[in-house]
Amino acid sequence: LRIAVLASGRGSNLRAILDAIADGRLDAQVVGVFSDKPAAAALEMVDAGRRWAMDARALGDRAAFDAAMGDAVAASAPDWIVCAGYMRILGPAFVARFRGRLINIHPSLLPRHRGLHTHARALQAGDAEHGASVHFVIPELDAGTVIAQVRLPVRQDDTPDTLAERLLPLEHRLLCAVLALAAHAALSEQDGTVLLDGQAV
Ligand code: GRF
Repeated sequence: LRIAVLASGRGSNLRAILDAIADGRLDAQVVGVFSDKPAAAALEMVDAGRRWAMDARALGDRAAFDAAMGDAVAASAPDWIVCAGYMRILGPAFVARFRGRLINIHPSLLPRHRGLHTHARALQAGDAEHGASVHFVIPELDAGTVIAQVRLPVRQDDTPDTLAERLLPLEHRLLCAVLALAAHAALSEQDGTVLLDGQAV
């Protein structure tokens, strides 16, 4: 499975993917890491030939940035494109170009808490459970079909930071598990239902 990773920050999800590949738990290769932040730590995790970054603010125009990144992603010939801590909204043209093989990991039990600050919002809402979701990307933010989720109980004394810290390793396992599935079966989506080798799961 040829994986392109979009990342804006520290890249712990990318690290988990690279470790899973190195350990033989994931039959895949990371063909490129793409970022809207030239200083993103994630970029340092692969060799220079597999890195692409452009300061999105310098370009100004969302469509122009998306087109440039889209061309770079397409040139790496990925089977799957994974948003792993990619913090910039992808425009409709980018999503249409890669739809069906573009996924995101989001730190909440979607459809609860789309968008930012999910840990704080889960606590504010008094949620008994929190978690993370891997989902197909559609133009509407964090609204595409959910492929898989991981959940954990919220503790009385949790803060946004403790919740994020307990969730992160579960996120890593979830993302690697979904990619391992995609490496061994045709993973797709139709009308909100996830299909494995064409069968509903
Ligand atoms: C993760 O919590 C991910 O779910 C969210 O941003 C964080 C990225 O972490 N979208 P990292 O950059 O992979 O360490």
